[in-house]
Amino acid sequence: MDPPYNTGNDSFNYNDRFNHSTWLTFMKNRLEIARELLRDDGVIFVQCDDNEQAYLKVLMDEIFGRENFVACFVWEKKGGRQNDAKFYSVNHEYILNYGKVKEYFKPNLMARTEEMLSMYKNPDNDPRGVWTSITLHAKDESSQGNYSITFDNGVTYQAPSGTHARLSYENMQKAYKENRLWFGESGKNTPRLKKFLSEIKDGVTHNTLLVQQEVGNTQKAKQEIKTLFSDRNDLFATPKPEALLQRILEISTNENDLVLDFFAGSGTTLAVAHKMKRRYIGIEQMDYIESITKERLKNVIDGEQGGVSKAVSWSGGGSLIYCELANLNAKFIDMIENSSDENELNQIYEKLIKFAFIDYRVDIQNDLKDLEFAALEFIEKKRILKKCLDRNMDYIPYADMEDSDYKIDERTKKLNDIFYKGSSDE
Ligand SMILES: C[S@@+](CC[C@H](N)C(=O)[O-])C[C@H]1O[C@@H](n2cnc3c(N)ncnc32)[C@H](O)[C@@H]1O
Repeated sequence: MDPPYNTGNDSFNYNDRFNHSTWLTFMKNRLEIARELLRDDGVIFVQCDDNEQAYLKVLMDEIFGRENFVACFVWEKKGGRQNDAKFYSVNHEYILNYGKVKEYFKPNLMARTEEMLSMYKNPDNDPRGVWTSITLHAKDESSQGNYSITFDNGVTYQAPSGTHARLSYENMQKAYKENRLWFGESGKNTPRLKKFLSEIKDGVTHNTLLVQQEVGNTQKAKQEIKTLFSDRNDLFATPKPEALLQRILEISTNENDLVLDFFAGSGTTLAVAHKMKRRYIGIEQMDYIESITKERLKNVIDGEQGGVSKAVSWSGGGSLIYCELANLNAKFIDMIENSSDENELNQIYEKLIKFAFIDYRVDIQNDLKDLEFAALEFIEKKRILKKCLDRNMDYIPYADMEDSDYKIDERTKKLNDIFYKGSSDE
């Protein structure tokens, strides 16, 4: 998940001006639920920057347990250098990774790149296939001692002083007999140990440093969105590059696994999950879910070829269900926010009295009739009217779905039953 970072920067379309403790409470409530939702072998990745990294680490230690901390990845978010920066040109962010039960988590290995594979060759036509070689000595004290050995080909080997042989004397002889030592083209060089591609792990262990050449940077992320919505100027400000999400999903998931992102934004996680054939649930509070996030996913289904599409051989297909919470008080909040004069506000006030759920501590009819309220600035009146509403009733509760006043259609009821109960009554 990629929550608001609490940067104090208001240029985003959403409100990330939480103060520090409000932000921590906001995160705590959500992380506790996230933990509940995880499978025992499930993992969570949370992106942040230096505004909250240290505090988020402590909060996550508390919720997930210190023993379940797996790693703090560092993402190189931009290249170049910002020379007018006051102190340093900050070019990284963090991704904290926890397991629900760390010991159950087995990160997938990273497939070897072409460059890595090109190190494996077969100059002696070994029937075991391509190999690369490593030195026979190591600095590690736990290696197998320092001895001198003369092989049948006349070459004598002894680990250089201050180092130890990787193999015991017996294993060194065995390796020679099995043609696992390489004495160079001449057959007389200091021997090295052959490592066959066919005998090693299927991939390599992931690094915690995520470099922009491999996983993209913020500029790349913005380009990806721009390519998708070339006709729009009001684009999403803080997308992540698809390759970054590809890396995270490669590490932690397999086909058909379930991915949850409840700070969906422009939908990068969801788009990549879809292309990588993972199932997913995405949640977003802002209206751009309709114009950007949903549209992006429709493009993915149609087989768009941006982002990681080529890397994961994406050619389209699949489906998604898009739902909105049914508005109740949220509708009035919108009306109040969008009202532009006193007259409009008065009309909304009449509607509130009749239809809205008012906070039980407020006697709206009396409180708002007094002269003090009438004397307030327009902006203040808006603020107070919003405060009168019971925010627990922003949306229609599932339990009230059958209430005929809400006019919920049968199809929607059925969908809700499937969602909440796993089946509908029919
Ligand atoms: C940093 S952005 C996520 C960007 C995303 N990773 C992407 O690539 O586009 C954070 C998102 O979380 C959303 N958000 C913040 N609070 C939320 C909440 N309570 N419920 C749902 N979404 C929320 C914001 O509206 C914003 O779109």
